[in-house]
Amino acid sequence: MSVLSAISRLPRPTRTAAILAASAVALAGCGGSSLDQSGGGQSSGEIKIGLLVPLSGVYAPIGQDMRNGFQLYLDQHGGKLGGRTVKVVTADEGDGPQTGVPAAQKLVTQDQVTTVVGVVNSATALGLRDFFDESKRPLLVANAGADDITGARQSDYVWRTSFTNGDVGGALGPAVADEVKGEVYLIAADYAAGREMVAGFRKTFVAAGGKIAGEDYTPFGKTQDFQPYLSAIRKSDADAVFAFYAGAEAVNFVKQYNEFGLAGKTQLYGTGFLTEGGVLAAQGQAALGVRTSLHYSTELDTPRNTEFVAAYRGKAGKPPTAYAVQAYDAAAVLDKALAASSGKGGADLVKALGGVGAVDSPRGPWSFGADHNVQQKYYLREVESSGGAVVNAVVRELEQAG
Ligand code: BEZ
Repeated sequence: MSVLSAISRLPRPTRTAAILAASAVALAGCGGSSLDQSGGGQSSGEIKIGLLVPLSGVYAPIGQDMRNGFQLYLDQHGGKLGGRTVKVVTADEGDGPQTGVPAAQKLVTQDQVTTVVGVVNSATALGLRDFFDESKRPLLVANAGADDITGARQSDYVWRTSFTNGDVGGALGPAVADEVKGEVYLIAADYAAGREMVAGFRKTFVAAGGKIAGEDYTPFGKTQDFQPYLSAIRKSDADAVFAFYAGAEAVNFVKQYNEFGLAGKTQLYGTGFLTEGGVLAAQGQAALGVRTSLHYSTELDTPRNTEFVAAYRGKAGKPPTAYAVQAYDAAAVLDKALAASSGKGGADLVKALGGVGAVDSPRGPWSFGADHNVQQKYYLREVESSGGAVVNAVVRELEQAG
C-alpha cells in the first residue's frame, strides 16, 4: 500500500499529523546517519537520544514517570548505553499528534537524535509511524498501545516495550465473564486507545459467554463531568462496568463513580491504567475493590521487582508505575542493542534490536516477538489498602493474550 493511500485511511486528526510527518521525512534525510554523534568508534563518544513524552496535558504525569524510569536506568549504568555517553533531548508530546508529531520531527531533523523513545498516546504513535519508517530512524514506543503499529502497519523501524491495547483489554475478558453473571457496560475515552482496549475486551469476553449491557465513549481530554455517562450506566442495569481511562481522566472517573453510588453495587473493572501510580494515590479509598488487568504491579513479589521498587523510590520519592518500567526497559534494550550494533545507522540498530533476547525486567522476563511487540504475562489486580496506602494487589496471573 502506498504511503498516501495508507494516510487516507487514518482518522482525521491522525491523518493530518501523518501528512505533516510525511513532508518532514524529506527534510530528515537521515536514512544512513551514523549512530555515534561524535564520529568516534563503536563504543566511544556521545549519543543523543530523543525522549518524546507528554510534559503537558492529560497524560503529563505519565510522561514524568517515563522520564524517571529512563533516567533511573541511566543513573544505574553510569549515564551510558552500549558504552556511549547518553545525552537525552526531551520534547513535549502534549495531548496527541497535533503536538507530538512536530515535536518528534524536530528531534530527528534538528536535534539529530539517533533514536526516539517514549510516546504515550496511541494517536501520536499512529501519526508517527510513517515518518520513522521512511526516515529509517528507530522509534522505541514505551507506552502507546495502538494495535496497528505492531500489527497491520508494522515497520522495521518501530519497536515497542509496553503492550498492545487489544492485549491488555483482551487479557481481562475471560476473567470478567467468569466472575460476572449478568451484563457488563463498556466505557472509554474516545480515541484509538479507548476503542481498541474495549474491542480487545469485548472479543474475549463475548467469546467466553459474556453479555454487553451498553457502551459509551467520552470526548478525550475534554470530559471532566462523567455524571451523564454514570446515569446511563445506572439506567442500563448493568452488573459490572469495564472502563479505559488514564491520567487525570482516570482520577475523575473513579472518584465520580464512587460519589455517584455505583461503587460497591456495580463492580468496576478496567485496564490497569485506570488505577496506576499517581492516579491511584489521588483516587484513594474511592478506588478500593477496582479490578484491572496489566503487565505490572508494584506488588509483584520477586527479587527483581523489590530491588527496582526500592531504587525507584530512592530516586523519585514515590512508587514506580508500569509507565516507568516500560521506559526503564526501553533503556535496557537500547543498552544491549547499541552495544551489539556497528554504529552504521538506523538499519543496523534495528537489526540489533531483533537480537536483544530476554529482558530481565521488574515486570518479569520478556522478549520481543516477530511483530516487534512485547511478549509478556498479564495480571489480575485489585485495589486494596496496605500500610496506610492503596495498592494494586496481584490476584493472579491471567491467561496469555493473543
Ligand atoms: C494510549 O493512548 O495508547 C495509552 C495512553 C495512556 C495509557 C495507556 C495507553
